[in-house]
Amino acid sequence: MNIKELNHVAIRVADIEKSVHFYSKVLNGTIILDECSDGKDRVVYVQIVNGVIELTQGKAGVDDLGFRHIAFSMEEDANFDSSVEELKSAGYKFTIDPRATLIGSGRLCFFEDSSGVVFELIQRNDKMRLPIQRNNKIRIPNLKNPYILDFDHISINLHDDNFKKCADFYLNIMGFKLKRILEKNGLLVSYYSWDNDTLETCYKKGVKKVAQHIDHIALRVESCADVKTYFKSLDIVCGDVHESPLGVYNMININGPDGENLQFIDRPSLEEYML
Ligand SMILES: [Fe+2]
Repeated sequence: MNIKELNHVAIRVADIEKSVHFYSKVLNGTIILDECSDGKDRVVYVQIVNGVIELTQGKAGVDDLGFRHIAFSMEEDANFDSSVEELKSAGYKFTIDPRATLIGSGRLCFFEDSSGVVFELIQRNDKMRLPIQRNNKIRIPNLKNPYILDFDHISINLHDDNFKKCADFYLNIMGFKLKRILEKNGLLVSYYSWDNDTLETCYKKGVKKVAQHIDHIALRVESCADVKTYFKSLDIVCGDVHESPLGVYNMININGPDGENLQFIDRPSLEEYML
């Protein structure tokens, strides 16, 4: 597929000011792009350590808010049309056919994989007005966050009918590498990596349907107890610190402004973590 990078995970929000404040001030993310796509809709990209979140304005009560899609950008010299044809002939459903990007010059399309997750493919011909030292990639290299150690993964829920098809999609179509498989009490958690980015899939045999396709973003921290103290000091409601279903480490969940599930975990990096 000639993927260059995992470009962003998108969240459609009811109040963009509020969400920009949450991700850039409360979570100390860095705004790397803030533009109006067609003179009206504001699009903001916030980078947290190595991960990028795209915030777009939606309408409460009209649009589906929360996690919307996962975007990959393709190399400039890759054949965009033949990748689209490949996906179409493999039966992937396109929700938006290839068209010009609204910001900058380039092309994009959206399609669904068997998990129901919407993926975006982008190919840009310009430098997105980003500093040249980023090598035409969207992220600021080695960006630090005072509290968050790592943008650990984006998590996808799978069920009986799509578990095998999705593994095939990530490995053979998208060209991801299998990073780890962890299994405990019938829960099978697989990690697929592209460069420094990781997608997690969670699957339990016998599950026929999932309510939420993109389940959460996981952010790695030093201490979940400190996360709780921090959110409490800001009067932000958060759950209790609890042990991960995989054991050994703790997690704590909070809801972002549009109900998106954000998970803080205090485990070592996936490379170092032993069950
Ligand atoms: Fe996770």
